[in-house]
Amino acid sequence: MTEKKGKYYITTPIYYPSSNLHIGHTYCTVMADAMARFKRLCGYDVHFLTGTDEHGQKLQEAAEKNGMTPQAYVDNVVEGIKELWKTMEISYDDFIRTTEPRHKERVQKIFMKIYEKGDIYKGEYEGMYCTPCESFWTESQLANGNCPDCGRPVEKAKEEAYFFRLSKYQQRLIDLFENTPEFLQPESRRNEMLSFVKQGLEDLCISRSTFNWGIPVPIDEKHVIYVWLDALSNYITALGYPDDPELYDKYWPADVHLVGKEIVRFHSVIWPAMLMAMDVPLPKQVLGHGWLLLEGGKMSKSKGNVVDPVKLIERYGIDSLKYFLLREYTFGQDGVYTNEVMLNRMNYDLANDLGNLVSRTVSMIEKYCEGIVPESKVDGEHDDELKAIAVGAAAKVEANMDKFSFNIALEEIWVLIRRTNKYIDETSPWVLAKDPKNKERLDTVMHNLAECLRIVSVLVTPFMHTTSKEIRKQLGIWFADVEWQDAFTFDMMAGEKVKKGNAIFPRLDIEKELAELEAMTESAAVSQEDKAESSVEMENKPLELKPEIEFGDFDKIDFRVGTILEAEKHPNADKLLVFKIKMGTEIRQVISGVAESFKPEEAVGRQVVVVANLKPRALRGLESKGMLLFADNGDRCEFVTTTAPDGEIVS
Ligand code: ME8
Ligand code: MG
Repeated sequence: MTEKKGKYYITTPIYYPSSNLHIGHTYCTVMADAMARFKRLCGYDVHFLTGTDEHGQKLQEAAEKNGMTPQAYVDNVVEGIKELWKTMEISYDDFIRTTEPRHKERVQKIFMKIYEKGDIYKGEYEGMYCTPCESFWTESQLANGNCPDCGRPVEKAKEEAYFFRLSKYQQRLIDLFENTPEFLQPESRRNEMLSFVKQGLEDLCISRSTFNWGIPVPIDEKHVIYVWLDALSNYITALGYPDDPELYDKYWPADVHLVGKEIVRFHSVIWPAMLMAMDVPLPKQVLGHGWLLLEGGKMSKSKGNVVDPVKLIERYGIDSLKYFLLREYTFGQDGVYTNEVMLNRMNYDLANDLGNLVSRTVSMIEKYCEGIVPESKVDGEHDDELKAIAVGAAAKVEANMDKFSFNIALEEIWVLIRRTNKYIDETSPWVLAKDPKNKERLDTVMHNLAECLRIVSVLVTPFMHTTSKEIRKQLGIWFADVEWQDAFTFDMMAGEKVKKGNAIFPRLDIEKELAELEAMTESAAVSQEDKAESSVEMENKPLELKPEIEFGDFDKIDFRVGTILEAEKHPNADKLLVFKIKMGTEIRQVISGVAESFKPEEAVGRQVVVVANLKPRALRGLESKGMLLFADNGDRCEFVTTTAPDGEIVS
């Protein structure tokens, strides 16, 4: 038996059941599953959590569009999601739905805990309000100044709401990112979040009263709790926090929250701050993975060309799909999905490399040794090298799994597979078999092949457990449990009886498959409609832009790098900041409408981009000479900054 190594708690995001999941969600869940299986195999006591995030306005609207109650709507989609994970043999230990009583009650307790600590207070939320739709919008969401849903005029309005004192945790979050770099990875995500937090955090509005599909605020039932506060809590409510702490005591803090890069901010800023407010330990790590994109222009659920994992599994099997997802993409980076890349992986790595090794090894042992794996007798050239690679592979897989480098972990296994195939060519058993003098050498070669294949069957288990079982069946060792440490030894196969089975991965006719997949996509496109949460991460949608300009128009603008020397509030206008900007030799005053995005002192010292030849004008009695560039998301502005020295021309 493998000794227990301690616990390992891994989570996926809880997905919105707004419509069926696609290959992007599958990618994340497949990674978490492979890791959970790997850790179990290595002897950890693993808890693997996934689930669904079922509240919020968008889901309520999706249900209404379909003429269903929100509960009936999500029940239906969640059933499909569970079915998908079952089909894919995802080995989760718990599936949490945020509409379950266990979750709702505990979220209310969490809310009260933070409230009693003094970190939740009642305030006012301000925005543009569409009365007929009962919706708040930010300026940037408006369509030509009107409600983007119904097109009617909106008005400025205030709403009572509860706020979480996120701002209070700014310094602790900065310390967290700076002192515990492994908390948030990859490094690029950590830097991004560090600079985001350094720019200042505003308190977070955590209640809504314009719709009711959510968990009621316990002290004020007119409001429902903000869906992200509700959703993030799942990682501990599923463990029974706070009232049934058995699992919580055993598994918290989580070892890793695996999430897509677009929700890293929620997991690495808001979630830790919530936990700090509750005096609950932080998760050990948040890992942001990249997106799967589709090539060639716009794709979206509305177009129906998102990739449906169920179709791929029906055609190629679970293990082929999982292998492809884990082998093809580099953790943390975006990757492009194409049918062709997938089919090539399946054909070359699976059918050729692995499939051939299995069928050649087993048929030769049947042919030359009556199906019984012989003892090793006479060592020859290449044996030492082969054995070293075989018994060394597991440590390399471990090292890469520790970094979530699934692709390199698999590549290390394939180094062994390809080396073993080469060993067959080098030793040419069919030549040895011609002369009885060589029988002992032939036996040794057969023995070595059987050992290598057995080791491969152990190594692939976390990624392709069915394939592992299939190989072990052909090797005659299917009855024994797979143990990770068996991958480190080279003497377990002598005397086992092998038995040839079907090809584990059939060869694909790539041209034909491409045509079939293409046809499937086109027929799916007809039956799709846009669902509530469209898959932004799969889209490459042209931006809505102002009319094109000529190069000559652009060339008239003189952009310069400037350093902000001073910043202060405009004496006569709440929204304006007055900056003193140095551009090389010149210092001048520029006024910008960004007082709601920055405190003046946060701006001092920044390198910014200035439109330097803009005609001066007076703003509420003060002169502004030029303009600063900002990135504006509708809620707040960020400086467009540079590391270049002030005075330089930007072109
Ligand atoms: O954000 N490529 O749920 P969601 C790679 N409910 N991964 C993708 C992907 C793609 N194209 N598309 C989706 C939510 N994903 C919230 C989460 S957690 C407390 C609440 C994966 O249904 C990726 O992991 O939009 C991403 O973060 C997640 O699905 C988002 O799923
Ligand atoms: Mg999303």
